[in-house]
Amino acid sequence: MLYCIAQRNTRMQGMAARILWPSLQTAAAGKEVAMTNPDEIICSCLDITKGMIQEAVNNGAKTLEEVQEINSVGTICGSCIEDVENLIAELTGK
Ligand code: FES
Repeated sequence: MLYCIAQRNTRMQGMAARILWPSLQTAAAGKEVAMTNPDEIICSCLDITKGMIQEAVNNGAKTLEEVQEINSVGTICGSCIEDVENLIAELTGK
């Protein structure tokens, strides 16, 4: 039940979900980084969406550090770093 609620609520896939259901994040790890919805928040601290990461990659960023230079993703609590790195890898094919 909680898994279904978290999967439907994109806002819960960030820091709040990690605090409330850390095991859920592990179970859903492969699914949550897929580029299924560009409006989905990937960094809840800064309200950065997957689409914003994709835009940074489209503008030439190929690493986490290069994406951070563009939008500062992951620079507050850092809990989204692994998801952002996985998304960058997916988008760059690495
Ligand atoms: S979720 Fe906190 S820095 Fe991204």
